[in-house]
Amino acid sequence: MFSWKSRASTIGSYSTSVLGGLVIVLALSSYILTPPSSILDVTLTANSLVKLHQYRRVGGDGALFYFDLKTDLKPLFHWNLKMVYVYLSAEYKTQRNEINQVVLWDTIVEREELNHTRKEAKKHGQLRRRPIYHTKGVLDLEDLKCKYILLDDGFNLRNQNVTFKLNWNIVPNAGLMFDQIHPKTTSMVLPSTYIKARRDQDYSAEDEIN
Ligand SMILES: *[C@@H]1O[C@H](CO)[C@@H](O)[C@H](O)[C@H]1NC(C)=O
Ligand SMILES: *[C@@H]1O[C@H](CO)[C@@H](O)[C@H](O)[C@H]1NC(C)=O
Repeated sequence: MFSWKSRASTIGSYSTSVLGGLVIVLALSSYILTPPSSILDVTLTANSLVKLHQYRRVGGDGALFYFDLKTDLKPLFHWNLKMVYVYLSAEYKTQRNEINQVVLWDTIVEREELNHTRKEAKKHGQLRRRPIYHTKGVLDLEDLKCKYILLDDGFNLRNQNVTFKLNWNIVPNAGLMFDQIHPKTTSMVLPSTYIKARRDQDYSAEDEIN
């Protein structure tokens, strides 16, 4: 027997499950639609270490790097991608920690910035109060100073083998955020002695104390 009530409830549960399915598809879409990290062609070079110091006040070694980074992020963008948070990390091993990970530099690339002309990008950056490092999704950075010093929680940076990695966090319009790491990494073995700032602009009061 067919009653309107049961029919309505059948339709109701059917549409609920369709909606539920859509939500799941949407939630997973960023996983499904985002290509593997290896799709990007990345050139990453830590081109210089400009100082290696003992920061006694904070109780640890600090190192400052300049680097070159080239990549085109456009292949990552699909209809459900809002922005990509790109960051350069340094990883190394100490007796205390198997993996120490420190972020040295970062930037945001928004989908709506991808078609901006240089002028539009500048205006957009001023509005957002942040520098725009890319042109149409392409990062082409040479001799760029890291935003953050590599600060260790002890005095472990001399002779340290540091590996640099390009990471990014996928931020969809709807769905789940997740991280990707580019498979190509680059390493540098830091010197066995502390070095003073090699470029004038990298001296700081802190350097004088130590
Ligand atoms: C950018 O422009 C291209 C070509 O005009 C277009 O296909 C694409 O959808 C645009 N992308 C965005 C994010 O507006
Ligand atoms: C530094 O570490 C990387 C990554 O673990 C490794 O591939 C490389 O061989 C190491 N270099 C030296 C000189 O130990």
